[in-house]
Parts: sequence; structure tokens; C-alpha cells
Amino acid sequence: MKISILTLFPEMFDGFKNSSIIKRAIDKNILDIEVINIRDFSTLNNKQVDDTPYGGGAGMVMRVDIVYDAIESVRTPESKVYLMSPAGKVFNQGIAKELSSFKHLILVCGHYEGIDDRITNFIDGEISIGDYILTGGELASMVITDAVTRLVDGVITKESLDDESFNDDLLDYPTFTRPFEFKGYKVPDVLISGHHENINKWRMEERIKRTEERRPDLKDNK
Ligand SMILES: C[S@@+](CC[C@H](N)C(=O)[O-])C[C@H]1O[C@@H](n2cnc3c(N)ncnc32)[C@H](O)[C@@H]1O
Repeated sequence: MKISILTLFPEMFDGFKNSSIIKRAIDKNILDIEVINIRDFSTLNNKQVDDTPYGGGAGMVMRVDIVYDAIESVRTPESKVYLMSPAGKVFNQGIAKELSSFKHLILVCGHYEGIDDRITNFIDGEISIGDYILTGGELASMVITDAVTRLVDGVITKESLDDESFNDDLLDYPTFTRPFEFKGYKVPDVLISGHHENINKWRMEERIKRTEERRPDLKDNK
């Protein structure tokens, strides 16, 4: 899978591309991340990319023509283009799964007051990572890239994905490791019983209990 990220701040992705699961997926040639500097597509003085909003108001707006040229420089017939936007569909595991099935994602990061709205005529959708305002779309594109990458075949084992939270509208079960006792808190006995059937039963009960207590809304996602 290839992910092209269009941004005014390419340096923000240096650490991201060189750490953890993303780095491993790149090293294994399962993932290719290309970071494109939108500013390279400006032909204006001082490589300007934004301008004042029509109708007045605060801040600067990124120009549609420059962002369009940046998108077209990487678009292929297999590309799906998504704009990072607080007005978009709120990202979740279902969207991550859908995106992981595409060969090429183009994630466009806005900045300042956002991008001239006419850009929506040239993209496949807008995605928000939650109901808050970030300074730019860079962190949103990293969140999406991370969540999508771990679902791509070969990146992590299928077993690791199976019981994960949100996979089946249930949260994951609680996990424990050594020491067996810490400041009076012990690991549940069933986990050291060696009885796999009982362990699986306990884990499923915990998943249901946690979901009912913490995220009863997940049931309604079905
Ligand atoms: C400061 S924000 C613009 C906010 C915009 N004026 C508004 O009130 O909706 C600049 C850029 O950050 C990104 N961004 C901000 N919050 C986001 C969110 N919750 N999800 C995804 N992208 C976000 C978008 O790309 C946006 O164009």
C-alpha cells in the first residue's frame, strides 16, 4: 500500500516514518509513505500558498489551485483522496478497515483556516479525527496512517488484531504481565490456571462487562 501525505510541514513526518510499526512496514516493503510539500507547487512570490478569505474574516485560506496541483502530481487511477477536516466523517475502526483495502491513499493536510472549499470537488471524502480543532491536518493524517497500516496484510499478526477493541464492537479484555502481585494487586487467578477454555471465557466476559461499563454506545454501531 502507498500513502501520499500532502502537507506544508513535511519535517513533522521524519520521526513518524522512522519509528515502530510504520518503520517496520516500510522496511518490509508493505508500505510506502511519500510526503509531499504543497509549497513546492506554488508559482507565486515567496512560494506563497494562502490568501485572505473572500468575504473577510480572520486568518488565511490555502489556495485551491496549489493544493489541486499537489494532488494531481501524485494521483493515479487507483488513488483515493481524503482531506483532513474537522467537518469530515469522524474516523473509526470501520473507516480504517475500508481505507486499508485501497492501494493508494492521498491524505491532504490543511493549515491556517483550512483549504478553499472548492477542493471538495476533487477529492473522495473528508475525515475528522474528533470533535476538536488541531492546528493542522498533519497529526490527523498520522493517526489515520497508523490505524490503517496495522490492518494491512503482513504488518502485524492476524491474532493480534482479532481481539482488539472495536473489531467486533467490544473493547479488548484487560491484560497483565509479571510481577504476579504489585502493591497488593494480584493478577486474576484464572490467568495462571493454564485452563485455556476458562481463560477464553473469562476474557470474553471481561470484554462484554468493560464495554457495557465504559462504552455502551458501541452496541449501537452495529
Ligand atoms: C485550524 S484548522 C481549521 C479549522 C477550521 N477553520 C474550522 O473551524 O473548522 C486547520 C486544519 O487542521 C486540520 N484539522 C483541524 N482539526 C482537525 C480534526 N479534528 N480532524 C482532522 N483534521 C483537522 C484540517 O486539515 C484543517 O484544515
